[in-house]
Amino acid sequence: MTIAAAERPVVSARDIVKRYGGVTALNGVSLDVEEGEIFGIIGPNGAGKSTLFDILCGITVPTSGSIRIMGSEISGMPPHLIARSGVARTFQRTAVFAESTVLENLLFGRHASFHHGVLGRIVGSKSYVRDQQAFQARVEEVLALIGLDGERHRKAGVLAYGVQRRLAVGIALMSDPKIMFLDEPAAGMNGRETADFIALIRAIAPGRTILIVEHDMAVIRQLCGRALVVVDGKPVVVDAPHHVLSHPEVVTAYLGADDDE
Ligand SMILES: Nc1ncnc2c1ncn2[C@@H]1O[C@H](COP(=O)(O)OP(=O)(O)OP(=O)(O)O)[C@@H](O)[C@H]1O
Ligand SMILES: [Mg+2]
Repeated sequence: MTIAAAERPVVSARDIVKRYGGVTALNGVSLDVEEGEIFGIIGPNGAGKSTLFDILCGITVPTSGSIRIMGSEISGMPPHLIARSGVARTFQRTAVFAESTVLENLLFGRHASFHHGVLGRIVGSKSYVRDQQAFQARVEEVLALIGLDGERHRKAGVLAYGVQRRLAVGIALMSDPKIMFLDEPAAGMNGRETADFIALIRAIAPGRTILIVEHDMAVIRQLCGRALVVVDGKPVVVDAPHHVLSHPEVVTAYLGADDDE
């Protein structure tokens, strides 16, 4: 199938195939995501959405196909180097460290560029002190963005589920990423939490490109300019959400009784 090519894609994948033994998780997925887009990826359970994210972030090596992030081929590049180039992601299942405070959780998102050698820390080198200050400033910015300013010393595990998911986005935001991959970030949220979440993503979107896997079609409709549908590892259609959601193959394969319209 043909997917309209973006003029300046920041995430570009061509003919991605991923096989696990006899299971073909992805079977020829291509996509181009333009700078500044909020791009949705939807599809039934087991369609290959998380596998696609893992491949786009370099966590999983595809069986075949190529991926360019901001113009650079990432094949063979370790995930931490990809992260350093401005990519961050949240995971479908692991959200936050329940026994750690909000602040400690944000520390886990500390960018590699903030890391200094032991010597630099002991002698308090200028660059170390400067980075410490930048890091503290970033913590404050992120706490304000995710609305957890007053909760910084609370254990993440005691927060409402939807708030924990906001914190997961906060951890990803710590490195001020240019590209964010969010894997079902609104899963399990109630209506109020989902509305707050949509507002959060709108607030952080300027200056970033966001790819979002989500089963909640209200989230996809409200946030995404375009969405890709994947069914059984194959791309079905890429278009504006209201178009893809009424695509006959999508209705048959995926939405049917689940359609919330
Ligand atoms: N490490 C693995 N080993 C073997 N099979 C795998 C592995 N990871 C994924 N798969 C298989 O690949 C297919 C796609 O899985 P994936 O998790 O990417 O789907 P998904 O679209 O994210 O589903 P969901 O909506 O449930 O999160 C499934 O059949 C899954 O069982
Ligand atoms: Mg998944």
